[in-house]
Amino acid sequence: MASPRLKYVSLGVLVFQTTSLVLTMRYSRTLQAEGPRYLASSAVVVAEVLKILSCMLLVLKEHSYSMRALNSILRQEIIHKPIETLKLAIPSGIYTLQNNLLYVALSNLDAATYQVTYQLKILTTALFSVSMLGRRLGIYQWISLLILMTGVTLVQWPSESTVVPEKEALSAGSQFVGVAAVLVACCSSGFAGVYFEKILKESKQSVWVRNIQLGMFGFVFGLFGMLAYDGERVKESGMFQGYNTVTWTVVALQALGGLVIAAVIKYADNILKGFATSLSIILSTLISYFWLQDFDPTSVFFLGAVLVIVATFLYGYEGKPPPNPSRA
Ligand code: C5P
Repeated sequence: MASPRLKYVSLGVLVFQTTSLVLTMRYSRTLQAEGPRYLASSAVVVAEVLKILSCMLLVLKEHSYSMRALNSILRQEIIHKPIETLKLAIPSGIYTLQNNLLYVALSNLDAATYQVTYQLKILTTALFSVSMLGRRLGIYQWISLLILMTGVTLVQWPSESTVVPEKEALSAGSQFVGVAAVLVACCSSGFAGVYFEKILKESKQSVWVRNIQLGMFGFVFGLFGMLAYDGERVKESGMFQGYNTVTWTVVALQALGGLVIAAVIKYADNILKGFATSLSIILSTLISYFWLQDFDPTSVFFLGAVLVIVATFLYGYEGKPPPNPSRA
């Protein structure tokens, strides 16, 4: 069992990372862009490289900064165990597919429907945790997951002022494609997360080595994606076109996200990760209200926020041992 301190530290850092990422992305959208916009497909590749380099640094640190130890671990674990390494191609390939599906979803749905529907991944994650990891959830925990899903849905429910008129312009056909893409992404998110959790928890290998393996495939898939989508533009103006300080901050936060998610999956689990991201959605919305003033909280938002907080406490409730009658 991992230490409870690492569990809560990793969850806390995930809340911080998700909140900063959302806020930086929103901030970057409000900036006046000069010259070409950066290519999203290039940001994915750069984030994978940063992730691999940071994980290598962490493995180095685990081995008192010995380059020789790093070299031998990478050889032993990655080159000499091709089957083990190939296992990581599965979650990596699924994540790549998922990132593309979400892109399809966003192009066919309005952002609110997309975000609200994507919260179903809380339930798919729980179902995969039960079926693939044999985790048992008590009745309070199932109820709390339903409350969490309802809460996040309400938090993201569009208010009158935020409904965009283009929504009407979306045809029923494209709505269907969009919703289908999000539903498949909910399944892939649950499956890939739990599959990665199974690999991490079944082996003693460092989480950072596993993340290097995952990142290597992510890099290869991402590179193909970049060449397929934006090959022409990369040839014209290079893959770093449009990069500025904010872009680098987003890329660095995304890479940090990969590291933190891996730590959360290792020391806590995928279900708790869902709670951490839900809390950070509330936090970033509130900060965005006070700081960027681009959000007008409604009573539906507050009701949703209360439900998320109630769900968080309820989920932990059954984990505690029943009170000792002799001390009552
Ligand atoms: O929506 P969901 O929680 O499934 O998204 C997880 C995201 O985290 C994916 O975009 C995936 O690429 C990323 N990830 C990562 N490194 C990990 C695990 C997930 O970058 N070890």
